[in-house]
Amino acid sequence: MTSYQGGIQMDKNKKEKEILTNQQGHDVTDNQNVRTVGNRGPMTLENYDFLEKISHFDREKIPERIVHARGTGAHGYFQSYGTVNGEPISKYTRAKVFTNTEVQTPVFVRFSTVVHGKHSPETLRDPRGFAIKFYTEDGNWDLVGNNLKIFFIRDPLKFPDMIHAFRPDPVTNYQNLERMFDFVSRSPEAMHMITFVYSPWGIPATYRHMQGSGVHTYKWINAEGKAVLVKYHWEPVQGIRNLTQQEANKIQGQNFNHATQDLYEAIEEGNYPEWELYVQIMEDGEHPELDYDPLDPTKIWYKEDYPWHKVGKMVLNKNPDNFHAEVEQSAFGTGVLVDGLDFSDDKLLQGRTYSYSDTQRYRVGANYLQLPINRPHKRVVTNQTGGQMDFREDYGEHKNPHIDYEPSLLGGLKEAKNPGVEHEPHVEGNLQRKAISRENNFGQAGETYRRLADWEKDDLIANLVNALASCHEEIQQKMVEMCYQCDQDYGKRLEDGLKNATSSREEKMEKAVDMAEEMSKPSDPY
Ligand code: HEM
Repeated sequence: MTSYQGGIQMDKNKKEKEILTNQQGHDVTDNQNVRTVGNRGPMTLENYDFLEKISHFDREKIPERIVHARGTGAHGYFQSYGTVNGEPISKYTRAKVFTNTEVQTPVFVRFSTVVHGKHSPETLRDPRGFAIKFYTEDGNWDLVGNNLKIFFIRDPLKFPDMIHAFRPDPVTNYQNLERMFDFVSRSPEAMHMITFVYSPWGIPATYRHMQGSGVHTYKWINAEGKAVLVKYHWEPVQGIRNLTQQEANKIQGQNFNHATQDLYEAIEEGNYPEWELYVQIMEDGEHPELDYDPLDPTKIWYKEDYPWHKVGKMVLNKNPDNFHAEVEQSAFGTGVLVDGLDFSDDKLLQGRTYSYSDTQRYRVGANYLQLPINRPHKRVVTNQTGGQMDFREDYGEHKNPHIDYEPSLLGGLKEAKNPGVEHEPHVEGNLQRKAISRENNFGQAGETYRRLADWEKDDLIANLVNALASCHEEIQQKMVEMCYQCDQDYGKRLEDGLKNATSSREEKMEKAVDMAEEMSKPSDPY
């Protein structure tokens, strides 16, 4: 019998303890003392149990994710409602995860922050990752999104530079917002995302109280091979809650794991968080009538133009049993789609699609897809075998494993029939390195600013002033100029705020030193 006490399952009957063994199955009779010559040492090299124990310990950690290192996860299910705005969903997509309303598709979700390391505070201003693995009857589908509907950049070539600028300085190892705003002030497409991130939307109160979004434009393909453009959005049934900087500071002073703890405890108490999935649909095409490109991930499709249609529900009802095995080793990627779902031509999406499985082969290993958390719930019969840590003992349902190639007259595996008409988009053009034509970097950022509540605007301006106050004057000027381009009031308030800001980098440093000096002297006990 076990009971839940502050996250620990306590053995009720402590006498029924199991015997400790090593990994070879040998019973461990002394787990307190190494073998030594006499009780003072030295120790000898045949201490197999010690050497194995310490060597395994030395390797307990795998590289943390290059981004989104801090996170947590939970299991649950997704169920489709089967309709879009009163019409059968099959009109738009043949993906069984949506057309089959009888099935509760198992899911694993990982929430995360982006910039800082694996144990960084969960109160930091940052977008939040919202990644879902659907174990569908047709194999896995991953939807790897965030909470803010858009992103900072639209070209994947800029991603490593962006992350370098945002993460801690390579020399000092602490984050320097001057580096971040240096990059942002030269990347006007980031203004929309910055407007969200520096408002209270940049610090969701918990993972349970935030929205999710696929961000990119994807495609849905129906049985005739016809495509529509779609965007995905998750709406928390618990409601949305964000924090001002002051509220976040207060929480961080008491608990820097509050979001992980909140999710774990809610699920443990049976208070299962739920999200409803909405889609926005646009006819496939370039839509020259819009002042933005529908494939641009820095843009929102306004609800009033492209309504949100409710298509399903997700419930998270089980915590992981093993954080490392399930959360750390989980591997999501934007390339992981099932029949009826497709990519759009969004360049950022295509760049991401290479990056995820590439990093996972390094971070987790060549056979990361064999791990229970990553493998599909559908049978896998493949000619892709071997490699380090291939722990399959047989070839599964492979009828003739001698023929590990295809095509073959002798046997082996054969291709599946295409379940519907192939979607064959027509693509034509010169190979070139060019920005998209409808960049419109400031229009939506201004609109988002105007749509914020007054208290959110106040917090946004205060946060930007605070962040920019210690930046180089040219960076400040450039940011003010860009805010003016978004919205006159936005620019004016930032300009005035910066003029009045008293804290310069030097003053801040002096304050920190003064504070340290003012503190009471510690004792000198030895
Ligand atoms: C994680 C690359 C843009 C959401 C990651 C990881 C990489 C990466 C390498 C670590 C994956 C792992 O170790 O398993 C990129 C690149 C991008 C990009 C190259 C742009 C070119 C985005 C965007 C979003 C996003 C636009 C949101 C829509 C996430 C999330 C995770 C993640 C949620 C964490 C997944 C998890 O929980 O394991 N990204 N990313 N990324 N990225 Fe991106």
